[in-house]
Amino acid sequence: MRKYRIGILGMGTVGQGFINNYHLNKEEIDYKIGGELDFVNVLVRNTVKKRDVNLDKKVYTNQFDNINLKELDVVVELIGGVSSAFEYIKKALENGCHVVTANKELMAKKGIELIKTARENEVLIRYEASVGGGIPIISTLNDSLSSNKIERLMGILNGTTNYILTKMTKEKMSFKDVLKEAQELGFAEADPTSDVNGSDAAYKLAILSKDAFGIIVNPEDISREGIRNISLEDIEYGQELGYKIKLLALGEKSNEHVELSVQPALIPVEHPIASVNYEFNALFIEGNVVGEIMLYGKGAGSMPTGSAVLTDVIDITRKKNDYIGTCSAKDIVVNNIGRSAYYVRMEVVDLPGVLGKIAVSFGEQGVSLDSVVQRARGGKHAPLVFITHEIDRATLNAVLESIQKNNYVLEVMSIIRVVN
Ligand code: HSE
Repeated sequence: MRKYRIGILGMGTVGQGFINNYHLNKEEIDYKIGGELDFVNVLVRNTVKKRDVNLDKKVYTNQFDNINLKELDVVVELIGGVSSAFEYIKKALENGCHVVTANKELMAKKGIELIKTARENEVLIRYEASVGGGIPIISTLNDSLSSNKIERLMGILNGTTNYILTKMTKEKMSFKDVLKEAQELGFAEADPTSDVNGSDAAYKLAILSKDAFGIIVNPEDISREGIRNISLEDIEYGQELGYKIKLLALGEKSNEHVELSVQPALIPVEHPIASVNYEFNALFIEGNVVGEIMLYGKGAGSMPTGSAVLTDVIDITRKKNDYIGTCSAKDIVVNNIGRSAYYVRMEVVDLPGVLGKIAVSFGEQGVSLDSVVQRARGGKHAPLVFITHEIDRATLNAVLESIQKNNYVLEVMSIIRVVN
């Protein structure tokens, strides 16, 4: 029986899921690949730590240089971060190993360089687990939808923020309280900054930009806004108007530019992506031929992410193609004009005629309004909520700045994109 010799860098949650997934379904997998996987080396910091995985003790090493890359078929990188992971993967590719990685930050920042190195060395690099955990997003975009031009992507690509927003919506808990609870339950990282500020989703969107649109972007060029400022009040007004608030990764391509952004957005409750709750992820895809498709599942966790890693390894043993295509970095401009409808909540002085004056100011400055809500609070101040028709974000900001000069407008509390 053919043995595929595997080296694994890192043996944390995902690594253990990968090995346990193989042992769980070994018979079927061996049949599919006409061979078996042989876990030859595992690079870890602590070689004697107890792990929930059935591996021979002698495979562990804490020195990358102890691994003989020339003897391996596939290197699986699960250590995360950029610097060492990049160096190890590059060496593995140059030594003729195929590579599988779950590293979103690395693939977002250095993916193209690594894919090119893989090509030059006639090996493959796969990264399904880097976006959406166990959901087959990368292979769907590259293989199953290769007949289509992808026109638009809408993704819930971060489980931590989706969990927080779901709890805020369903249980009326504050952002702070849910985050604390999620950390205690181990759903959220001790340092959740990259999740909460939208960077994690922006890395994932940068990877998808290549696979959906054939465009290489620097993840830093993707405009992002996190969920820290989303209040229960916004969630409740949203519900009253028929929307849910989600942290949305958006990608849209036209001939001249691509719009890529991550931000909280109001989504109509009847849209399929509005029903994606708790730690689940989803990607809503619009292809020019196939129409609308939604992929849904667990975006993190040991077994779901391990399943994506193992599928990549299986694909490699079956010699599937790589995913580089012909990407362009220069012809297309990343544009963040943010043309959209917007939800605006402001605090105003509660006097007769104020709502009318503000509505007139919007109109005079070319902003067309779709809905208005005013809930009486019985004090001197009142909240006013507007939903605009489509407008560029910069124009809306300028109009709001001028409206705020009137002394009956106390503060603009929230501006949230509305996405259909
Ligand atoms: N931290 C990510 C999330 C999971 O909360 O979705 C790994 O990408």
